Amino acid sequence: PSTLFRRSALLAGLATLVAAGPALAQTQITIHHALPPNSHTGAGPIAFKETFERLTNNRYRIVIQRNDNEREMIESVQIGTIDCTFTSTGPVGNFVPEVRIFDVPFLFRDTAHARGVLDSEIGQQVLARFNARGLHGVIWTENGFRHLTNSRRDVNTPADIRGLKVRTMENQVHMRAFSVLGALPTPMAFSELVPALQQGTVDGQENPISVIVANNLNQVQRYMTLTNHVYSPAVMICNPGTTQRLNAADRAHFMTAARAAQAANRARVTADEASGVEELRRRGMTVITTVNTAAFQEALAPAFAEWERTMDAATLRRIRDWR
Ligand code: PAF
Repeated sequence: PSTLFRRSALLAGLATLVAAGPALAQTQITIHHALPPNSHTGAGPIAFKETFERLTNNRYRIVIQRNDNEREMIESVQIGTIDCTFTSTGPVGNFVPEVRIFDVPFLFRDTAHARGVLDSEIGQQVLARFNARGLHGVIWTENGFRHLTNSRRDVNTPADIRGLKVRTMENQVHMRAFSVLGALPTPMAFSELVPALQQGTVDGQENPISVIVANNLNQVQRYMTLTNHVYSPAVMICNPGTTQRLNAADRAHFMTAARAAQAANRARVTADEASGVEELRRRGMTVITTVNTAAFQEALAPAFAEWERTMDAATLRRIRDWR
């Protein structure tokens, strides 16, 4: 080949290298979460990625992946094989026991109450407890209020729950609540839920409307009761090393991106809750919307008494009184 050809090949090669320069300098951050990308859970990491990559001029590349086993993701964050996860608090209490306080049934009156408490000093103090467990609690997101579905019968009263095999998350507080109601709580990862419902290993499950819609649980569950029995917080958790490695400016961008994730997730939950009941009825589910909440709270009285003893009673009171 002529010298001219070799020179232009060299120049072309250099140009490619220059163009690829920033890509070579990219640092990868992996984020895993449950549920499809087009769901309230997927909305958080997607907003995080868009915001953080833009604010850092693509010096970072966020790689997002789905995993419906939330306990496994937290373990991976703790040992550092992935950087971050967006997870419900379902299994988090097994790592950071202080989180369990937010899993108490009927603790929050409504979404504004829950979001307000989590964003307040009370929520921030609980996030600060993650460090002692080798985790960084970055920001609260959410699943929304959980409701009961099953394949056996209409559930109108607490007595209707008796004897039902109900899949719960791997969460001691939720399991205790369902056993006090006379159900047979069966903890398992979400990844195992659909086969368990199909095979009749369990009769029912409980999840927010957003989850039931996004995962077509109407295909395996006939009855749904809007029990609103517990608010289901979610949280962005990272390996402490991931955030410690960032310089001060990038750490600020990281938090801006986390706030964008929180806003996107909450907006999607609000939208899903507004349209979800109609959508599930359209898909053939029987949905009971009028529920005697006081009857469910009364049935849970023995569990409430236990939690007053085993949890931080003063914080429980502060949360209930929060306005
Ligand atoms: O039921 C669960 O395990 C959780 O609510 C889910 C669906 C994984 C979302 O966080």
